[in-house]
Amino acid sequence: MTTDQKQLIKATIPALKEHGVLLTTHFYQRLFTHYPNLKTVFDMANQESGRQPIALAAAVLAYAQHIDNPSVLEPALTRIGHKHTSLNIRPEHYPIVGEQLLASISEVLGEAATPQLLDAWAAAYGQLASLMIGIEAALYEAKTETPAVPVPKSGCPMHQMC
Ligand code: HEM
Repeated sequence: MTTDQKQLIKATIPALKEHGVLLTTHFYQRLFTHYPNLKTVFDMANQESGRQPIALAAAVLAYAQHIDNPSVLEPALTRIGHKHTSLNIRPEHYPIVGEQLLASISEVLGEAATPQLLDAWAAAYGQLASLMIGIEAALYEAKTETPAVPVPKSGCPMHQMC
């Protein structure tokens, strides 16, 4: 991302603080209208209670606040990654979410969503998606690793050498 793009992202922090949940609520409505099959992946009770739009708004805000050094978010992103991998979220889902998030930013901000701002958010989302996809790839990899050889009840597995 360019320095100018990072500045544009930082300039949206006050709007995200005030209207972040409005944005993510709009995003989920849009997502489920365009991709109704995703309703089976999400827990719709968390949509109705507002828990999930609030969680996503907090994540987007934290990301904007740490746009200069997103690696500090790694523990938080790993927690989200555990949730995603438990639900089999895959890299090919990320462009769908990106497309819907960008369209939502444009619709919610209206005229304030200049082409430069939308480009900056597209770049920012791409960077965040790459981070998450990398974290989730490592978690999937760890899940498929061969489990250690179990120790037989009779004792040491190393040919009874110990
Ligand atoms: C950069 C993009 C993304 C961000 C920042 C993000 C953020 C989050 C956060 C903060 C949570 C809540 C975690 C928790 O409750 O512990 C979550 C859950 C979830 N995310 Fe994502 N996510 C992203 C991409 C995706 C994608 C691409 C999908 C695939 C469609 C997805 C599907 C889900 C689902 C199904 C849940 C569980 C929600 C529920 O059932 O209530 N996310 N995500």
